[in-house]
Amino acid sequence: MKIVSFCATEKKGVTYRLQEAFLEEFGDSAEITEFYFPKDCPAFCRGCAICVSKDPNLCREAEYIQKIDKAMREADLLVFTSPAYVFHTTGAMKAFLDHFAYRWIPHRPAAEMFGKRAVVITQCLGGGGKSAAKDIKDSLSWWGVSDIRVRSFKLMSEIEWDRLPDKKRSEMTGSVKALARKLASVDYSKRAHANIVTKSKFYVVRMLQTALGKSNPEYIDFNYWKANGWLGKVRPWK
Ligand SMILES: Cc1cc2nc3c(=O)[nH]c(=O)nc-3n(C[C@H](O)[C@H](O)[C@H](O)COP(=O)(O)O)c2cc1C
Repeated sequence: MKIVSFCATEKKGVTYRLQEAFLEEFGDSAEITEFYFPKDCPAFCRGCAICVSKDPNLCREAEYIQKIDKAMREADLLVFTSPAYVFHTTGAMKAFLDHFAYRWIPHRPAAEMFGKRAVVITQCLGGGGKSAAKDIKDSLSWWGVSDIRVRSFKLMSEIEWDRLPDKKRSEMTGSVKALARKLASVDYSKRAHANIVTKSKFYVVRMLQTALGKSNPEYIDFNYWKANGWLGKVRPWK
């Protein structure tokens, strides 16, 4: 199986330790590709929207974005880890998510996403871990992913890994390792189940694309939906 992980910080701190504790459980059974932000997606979206209106390959950051897009589509499991920065995910992770607006269901979602599994692990000192996870989960869900497992931790006392009480460290690593073992036993030849939320988003956008295509048959998103057969009987979760 293939895992692609995305760490919202380059610091080898708490977030990194939790990510590595999670990934370790897969041993040799997984081929793992790790991305770190901002290193692997260094520039902000400039808002030209050329990815949405024309072609994501025309983005000035296409070299980074297309590498990640390919890795995500080929992966069986997507793993996102983040600390909370002022109650949200880091700016580096948000910059990455902004670049993938063109993959939201209202535009041109990748069919593979509808059968994928994902994990979001966040931690914070006392508050904001859940909203940081939601920042990431929102995009995953709008990319078409239904099976999203979230683990969020509060450190409470200290933000340096080495100074955290042993009990806290083993509580957190125990939790992410247990989740990893559960996910390591999944049969990845079977696609994840697309839930009602994902299907509802798909059907609302399908109506929208049908209407938009009537007024503008050249519309790029309409043509993408049509070419995939989604305006007919084909569904991305089958
Ligand atoms: C700029 C910045 C903002 C932070 N904001 C919050 C916050 O809003 N709430 C919180 O509980 N912890 C906050 N923290 C603590 C982090 O969420 C995290 O626990 C800490 O950075 C340790 O994780 P790391 O070693 O992976 O960086 C902040 C840390 C930094 C550096």
